[in-house]
Amino acid sequence: MLLVVGIIICFTHIFATIGSSPIVLWHGMGDSCCDPYSLGSIIKLIERQLTPTPYIHSLRIGSNIEEDQLNGFFMNVNHQIDYACQLLNADKNLSKGYHAIGFSQGGQFLRAIAQRCPNPPMLNLISIGGQHQGVFGFPRCPGDNITICNYVRELLRIGVYESFVQDHLVQAEYWQDPHQEATYRKVSVFLADINQERIFNEQYKTNLLKIGNLVLVKFLRDTMVYPNESEHFGFYAENNTSKIIPLRESSLYINDLLGLKIMDQQSRIKFLESDTNHLEFTDQWFIDNIIPFLKD
Ligand SMILES: *[C@@H]1O[C@H](CO)[C@@H](O)[C@H](O)[C@H]1NC(C)=O
Ligand SMILES: *[C@@H]1O[C@H](CO)[C@@H](O)[C@H](O)[C@H]1NC(C)=O
Ligand SMILES: *[C@@H]1O[C@H](CO)[C@@H](O)[C@H](O)[C@H]1NC(C)=O
Ligand SMILES: *[C@@H]1O[C@H](CO)[C@@H](O)[C@H](O)[C@H]1NC(C)=O
Ligand SMILES: *[C@@H]1O[C@H](CO)[C@@H](O)[C@H](O)[C@H]1NC(C)=O
Repeated sequence: MLLVVGIIICFTHIFATIGSSPIVLWHGMGDSCCDPYSLGSIIKLIERQLTPTPYIHSLRIGSNIEEDQLNGFFMNVNHQIDYACQLLNADKNLSKGYHAIGFSQGGQFLRAIAQRCPNPPMLNLISIGGQHQGVFGFPRCPGDNITICNYVRELLRIGVYESFVQDHLVQAEYWQDPHQEATYRKVSVFLADINQERIFNEQYKTNLLKIGNLVLVKFLRDTMVYPNESEHFGFYAENNTSKIIPLRESSLYINDLLGLKIMDQQSRIKFLESDTNHLEFTDQWFIDNIIPFLKD
């Protein structure tokens, strides 16, 4: 049995398609660039699957891992996007283009990078559980730091659309309250902007259309993201949380404010699903579903 496994591993290794484009990762809330058990294991998995081994840059927002983790909760997302854009610009290994993989909120953050920071060029954008239409609920606090989690809850209690909270709480910046859509559109400092809900920014559409494929992974048993349809660009209907408006019925798509309709008609949007909870995919699922988008 062991021998057979050994042969299979050896075989897939030799015939692995040439993967040469660099890869950029952006971690989720409560996580960091370099935790050996989360993104560290993803990096090793990718390295085992692609030959030659691609260059991988896991974004660290801040000067160390602790800052990176804290910034995932409390650093204004627009500042995080600027910071990440500078890191990408400064990394000469990315100058010919890179594939991007965002985990959870890292998914919508990398989409903002594609829209606001087109150089170096992004090739495929893979969003694993990203909340592209935001969230409405905070059922589980990611990470395990009680102090941070209680502080987040306190800010949410004060009010997500208060300007102090908007400027400092990451989750508030992609909070979409279906009962307060007008307020959301007016004050959301991040999501309403990248989703073209306040003003229309032509560059956002032009830039997003430059990427190759947009791969969107939704977790069917997700108990962290409400609604999980947001991972496929779906969201609650205005004033009605019993009803979901899927991407293709949204005004974002119908009026093609981001080029998503064009991309969809060209089959460049890949709607993937994992029948698990948030980010709880297996190595084999990742190999079967994500690795193909990293080969070129
Ligand atoms: C660029 O990639 C090479 C090869 O992987 C690596 O040795 C080098 O440190 C990288 N440069 C930067 C700035 O990370
Ligand atoms: C929680 O985070 C705060 C702020 O970074 C830190 O001071 C504290 O030590 C952390 N607590 C634990 C248990 O990690
Ligand atoms: C996730 O989405 C699916 C299909 O859109 C839905 O049936 C399911 O109830 C959702 N899961 C959770 C935990 O909300
Ligand atoms: C949703 O409710 C708000 C506040 O009651 C109201 O102003 C708005 O017109 C409603 N929108 C729709 C589409 O029903
Ligand atoms: C909300 O949507 C559900 C499902 O489409 C529908 O049955 C219900 O009547 C709607 N509620 C309101 C208040 O419009």
